[in-house]
Formats: sequence, C-alpha cells, structure tokens
Amino acid sequence: MLVSTTALAAGDIVMHRDPGCGCCSKWAAQVSKQLGRKVKVVDNAQRPALQRKVGVPIDLSSCHTAIVDGMAFEGHVPIADMKRVLASRPNGVHGLAVPGMPVGSPGMEAPGVRAQPFSVIAFGTGGRKIFAKHG
Ligand code: CU
Ligand code: CU
Repeated sequence: MLVSTTALAAGDIVMHRDPGCGCCSKWAAQVSKQLGRKVKVVDNAQRPALQRKVGVPIDLSSCHTAIVDGMAFEGHVPIADMKRVLASRPNGVHGLAVPGMPVGSPGMEAPGVRAQPFSVIAFGTGGRKIFAKHG
C-alpha cells in the first residue's frame, strides 16, 4: 500500500519524487507489492541535493530517487534488479539507475506503444557498470 503521511517503520522505503509526477506512484505501487513493503512518497523539489547526498550521478537522473536499505534507486528500475542488488550487495555499488523514463519500464507501461530498450546502471565508489539490460 502507498502511504504518504504515516510514520516510517523499519524497512519502509522512502521515495522522493518531483512534485506531482504520476509515473513515480505507479512505480512505487509495483515496488510495494513486489517487495511487500510500504513506500512513503515524498514530494521533493530539492531532489538534486538528495541525489548528491546519496551519490546518484546527475547525468543518470530520472523522476524519482528511492532509498531502500541504504541503497539508492533512481528512476524506473525493475523490481527484479532491485531484489538482485539488495541480496548481492556488490562491492562498490551504492545503487541502480535507469536514466530518463523509458517507455515500457515499470510504471512507464504504455499499451500500444512499443517499449524502448533500456539499461540499468550500477553506480558507486566502484564506478559505473551495466547491471542489466531490458527490451
Ligand atoms: Cu517517471
Ligand atoms: Cu518517477
């Protein structure tokens, strides 16, 4: 379920989004369902400051930044990739990003519109690498 005002419990996910962005909520709903955890949605007009703080490279920006168990997830990252990185916690990886908002990524489904291929990029002190490819 999506919560926006209740207090955070341990294990809750916080998603900072550009105020009013709708596709973020669709992504958050899928995350909540597939991870079985609450997602707190924060409208954050100062998101670039948060991205700097949590180490999201600015050129990998999308419409939202979610913090899950200390890792950062930027944009419409597939939930299976989130599960994989949260379970494996590769050395030097602080999070995953899907730059932009590719059509067909979770929360960006558009019936009748051809999905765009996209890559999931791992970032952190270990540099960047392609974590997964989709489409
Ligand atoms: Cu979006
Ligand atoms: Cu979004």
